[in-house]
Parts: sequence; structure tokens; C-alpha cells
Amino acid sequence: MAAVTRINELKRVINHHNYQYYVIDSPEISDGEYDAMMRELAALEEANPEMITSDSPTRRVGGAPLAEFTPMFHRIPLLSIDNAMDEDELKAFHERVRKWLGATDISYCCEPKFDGLAVELVYEKGTLVRGGTRGDGSVGEDVTHNLRTIRSIPLKISIKSHEMLEVRGEVVMLKDSFRALNEDRAAKGEPLFANPRNAAAGSLRQLDPRITAQRSLVFFAYGVSEPARLSPSQSKVLDMLSGEGFRVNNERRVCTGLDEVMAYVERMKDIREGLPYEMDGVVVKVDSIPYQESLGVKAKSPRWVIAFKFPPTQATTQLLNIEVQVGRTGTLTPVAILEPVHVGGVTVSRATLHNLDEIKRKGLMISDTVLIQRAGDVIPEVVSPVISKRDGTQVEFRMPENCPVCGSQVEAEGVYYRCINMSCPAIIKERLYHFASKDAFDIEGLGIRIVEQLVDVLNVSDASTLFALTESDLLKLEGFAELSANNLLSMIASRKSVSLDRFIYALGIRHVGTTTASDLAKHFESLEELMSVSKDELSKVKGIGEVVASSIHNFFENKDNRAEIERLLKAGVSPHNDRARSAAPDSVLYGKRICFTGTLDRMSRSEAKKKAESLGAIVVDTVGKQLDYLVAGAGPGSKLDKAVKLGIAVWDEARFLDAVGDKA
Ligand code: IVH
Repeated sequence: MAAVTRINELKRVINHHNYQYYVIDSPEISDGEYDAMMRELAALEEANPEMITSDSPTRRVGGAPLAEFTPMFHRIPLLSIDNAMDEDELKAFHERVRKWLGATDISYCCEPKFDGLAVELVYEKGTLVRGGTRGDGSVGEDVTHNLRTIRSIPLKISIKSHEMLEVRGEVVMLKDSFRALNEDRAAKGEPLFANPRNAAAGSLRQLDPRITAQRSLVFFAYGVSEPARLSPSQSKVLDMLSGEGFRVNNERRVCTGLDEVMAYVERMKDIREGLPYEMDGVVVKVDSIPYQESLGVKAKSPRWVIAFKFPPTQATTQLLNIEVQVGRTGTLTPVAILEPVHVGGVTVSRATLHNLDEIKRKGLMISDTVLIQRAGDVIPEVVSPVISKRDGTQVEFRMPENCPVCGSQVEAEGVYYRCINMSCPAIIKERLYHFASKDAFDIEGLGIRIVEQLVDVLNVSDASTLFALTESDLLKLEGFAELSANNLLSMIASRKSVSLDRFIYALGIRHVGTTTASDLAKHFESLEELMSVSKDELSKVKGIGEVVASSIHNFFENKDNRAEIERLLKAGVSPHNDRARSAAPDSVLYGKRICFTGTLDRMSRSEAKKKAESLGAIVVDTVGKQLDYLVAGAGPGSKLDKAVKLGIAVWDEARFLDAVGDKA
């Protein structure tokens, strides 16, 4: 076969597979087969350089680097879009459009607002000749060499009826590529990109196109400079672009009237997280091009388009300070103190920085301007510093050599730093707070504010002291009167009798959460037995590995811990192991985690809890993956929704009574 025939054949086939892979996301061949064809084409072209054309797929891998960017003048400016921040503003836009046009029903072409970089591509007689960034709208940077490496940009199109077609759209980096790129950069110790938009911008504005070629960028077309030359409707223009091989958003819809637009907005909000690209809103364009022309443009933006913006999930703010918190086990955790900022619908003023390594990895300095992120209902995180905002006043963070609370020497342990003074007030407070928490002794009303006062004002130094508190003690604290003091005291007293699993959990042994605590309580007869067994025996317990076994063993070996347990028992605390006493392993509830919600008919919630516990059930207050049964009475609320979502068995009261052998 003549080289020219084979070259043309390969170009056609490779372009077809580029389209399948990069535009419509449905590859038909393996990467290996694709690479083999590319290599064959490259070899043929090398042997026959006169046959190389600018639209050959081999020309996408990136040519020689540029010395500098040249400006690209946009023949027709790329305008910006006004924003609507809520439904009222969208409604106002719709009313303005209706009034201007004197029409009632307006159809809008809606699509996601991509969070990337605006780009214009110029095709002359069907061939891509130039492409550049939006810049200020009139002049951007010519990045043709880089755009050519983006496989979803056709190098040739068939609309040749016009001398020239200017296609507009957005270059984005897909979330997956972004993650992979940052992982790779982290492994190499290179600075991370803050978000996919910055990564896309950084990748496109490269002088060396070989770098751009490695960055998996995608181009989404969303319009042309003169749509009237193609079609009388925006949605049909998009269909035409799609027909020309451009990637056009599949989520685009024509919506008639405000209600349909709002329904679209709500749907996009729902599916946003799951989309492969970042979006920060919905662009709503009057679909009719004659209507667009009648509406015309203002100084900076057309009257026929609006962007409905979603609440930002990222924001920048000031890192005022990095405080160090001392946790229950003495671990020092650096916490970012931030100038309060609104992100994703909440105000953020603090965010954990986890440990020193994390601060170093992100390259954060005190007084930095930082990027904050909150995705979905995930806790806020500090993503990165904004290096360009540094002004020389930034200072490096150092882990203190002494505990910021008690002044004792700090010990390093892997990436963690620890205060090892077990009488450090911070540690005591955290331990007390944990002791009183819901899954432990469940002392309602003993919140962190009161715990702080107990330690600071009354010098409470361990949990056993709680049981010796008097009314006159509590009256010394802020916010206590006789009634509230006595309420708390009787609450504390009522908790002396406690199930063994709660007792174990309350001790705050490292690595022992509620599940391990209840596994231990199920395995051992009593506290005495647990305290005396060997490490080996501990590792035989279901779900307990070596690290956890060591941690438990060390805890009970420690004489201070033994003394504290001794004091608790002396104070009248009696851990009882219901499962051992009632020995009811044949009950369906034995060893099962159960939660109650809503109002029961035949017994109070606390009676039901006791009943369940007496049969060996573990009663918990929250619905999580480990829950076995949710018993729902009248007015169940959000726990029921959550259980249904997690696929957890939901019982009504009758089913529960049946299980506890209490026939209704
Ligand atoms: S249409 C008159 N559609 O938003 C402008 N723009 O503020 C018509 N953008 O940087 C633009 N997604 O790149 C349009 N689906 C979309 C868009 C979109 C993102 C960007 C655009 C520009 C900015 C305008």
C-alpha cells in the first residue's frame, strides 16, 4: 500500500477513536491498540515528512516550546455573564426578558456553568488555525500550540460554508485527572494545584506544549461568536457543534418558563457532586437567537443570559494563626484559626490541620491567604496557601517544644507530637468530657463548658471526683442555681450503675471505640477479668488486632490507670455485664446494636432500652452503618430516613415487643 493511503487511513481511524474516547466517552479499542496505530503513523510521517499535515493526530503530542505568549485579539469580544444568586434574582431576570420582548412564554437553553478557563477556537475553511484564552474579553493569550494537544478539540470540521467559524467554550480538567495530577505532584514533592480550574489554567498557559499534552484537559463547546449564521436557536447551535465532533454538555436542556428552569437548577444541584467536572452554577440563555439579538448587550454582558450561581464550596480567607490543641490522649493537633468566611452555606472560622506533616505538605505559613474548601457536608479543610498573596509578613509554624497548656516537654511519635503529662489540664478536660459523653456514662448536661469549670475552678482531676461533687461545689460555677445543681448531681448519681461496655469505652483507652468496647464486654465476664488477661488473650477477641491488644494491655498495666479505676469503684460505680448475668445468647437481640426513635406506645424509651440491654443488646443513640435494628415509634424523624438510606432493618413497636418476648 502506498504510504499516503496508509497515512490517510490511520489518520481517519485514529481521529475516530479520539472522538470515541475524548468526546463521547465510549472507547472502542484498548490503549495499547491506539498507541500502536499512533506509533505506526508517526513512523510513516517521519519517513515521509512532506506528507505531514497540521491536522494529523501526531501533531497533538506537543511541538517545541514557545519563548513567550503572543496576544490573541478576539474579533468579537467574549463578554461576561451577570449572576443570579437566588431564585428571586432569576425571577427578576425572567421578568426583564419577558417585558423587553413583550412575550409570555420564554424558552431557555440551560447548561452547567463550567468552572474552567474560557477559550475561543478559530476555524478557517474548516481547519483549526488559532485558539486563545479569553483574557480581558478583547485580548487573550494565543495558546494554539497547547489547544492542539487537547483531543476533544477537532482539528478539522466540516462546516466550510463559511470562511471562518469561531467556537467558544471552556477548557476544564476532569476531577479524576485533577486528583491523579495532584497525587503525582505530591509524590514528587511539587506544589499542589488548589482546584481543577487552577490546574486547567496552569496546564493551558504552558510555554511547553508537551506538558499540556500530559495533563488530560477537556474542551466543552458552549457557543459560537455569530450563532445567527448557523441556526435560529442556541440549542440547535449546540446540536450542530456536537455533530461536528465537539464535546457539548450532555446535561443541556431547553426549559420553558421559570418553573422549568428552577427544576433544572435543583436537579443540577443534586447531581453536581457526581459529575466528572466541576461546575459552579447553571447558565440560562434565551434559546431563540432572534430574541437574543433583540435583547442585545450591555457594556460587559448580554441581556439574554444569566448565570445562576451555586453557593461557593471554596473561598479564600486569612490564616490568622495556628493554635495547638491537646487531645484526650495528649496528641497535639494544630488548628487553623481563620478570618470567618462563608463557604458552602456555613461560616468557617476554624479547621483542623491534622499534624505537622500536613502543614508542611501544604506549605502553609501563618498570615497566609489560604484557600478553604467544603465539599458536600464534608468538614471544612484548608486546601493551600495563595502564594501570590505573600507579602513577607508570613511566618513558619513550629510545633511547640512544650505543651501549650501545662508546659511539659512534648514527645514526638511518628508524625504526631504528644504531651505525656497525664495530669495536664487539657488532657483531664478531654478525658472527663469523653467519660460523660453519650456512648460512655451519658451524663446529660455535662458539656465541655462545665467540664472546663470543673477542672479550672474545682480542681477536679479525674472522673471519680465527679461522684463526690456537692451542691455547694456546683454553686461556685457560672450558670448554676440550686435546681440545676441538683439536677446534675442526681444525673451523675443515677449513672453509677453502668453497663460494662460503656464503662470500658469511658476509660478512653487509645484505639478502643464503642465497637471494641462492646466486643470486649461480650468476651469477658467482668472488669476484673479484662484487667487481668494477657496480651495474647486480648488478641483472641473477635475484631481485636495486635495494636489494639497492646494498647488495652498497656492501659491496664499502668498504675495510674489502675488507681483511677479503683477510685471509681470506691466511689460506688458498678459496671455490670448484663450479657453475662442474663446469659441470653439465644435472644435475637443478643450482641446486636439497636437504636430507638420516636415515641413508643407500651413503654417508655428508657424502659425499652433497659429491656433490650437485659437481653444483651447494645443500645446506641445514633444511626450508623453498624446498627442492626432501628425501633421506630410515632414521629420518628431523621433517624428513620438515615436508617432506610443505609438499608438497616426498621422495626415497629410490635416487632420489638415480640423480640423481647413481651407479646402485645
Ligand atoms: S456562555 C456572553 N456557557 O462563564 C457569554 N459561558 O461569566 C456567553 N462559562 O468565562 C458565555 N460555562 O467561559 C457560557 N455553559 C457555559 C459556561 C460559560 C462557563 C464561563 C465563560 C466565561 C464566564 C462568563
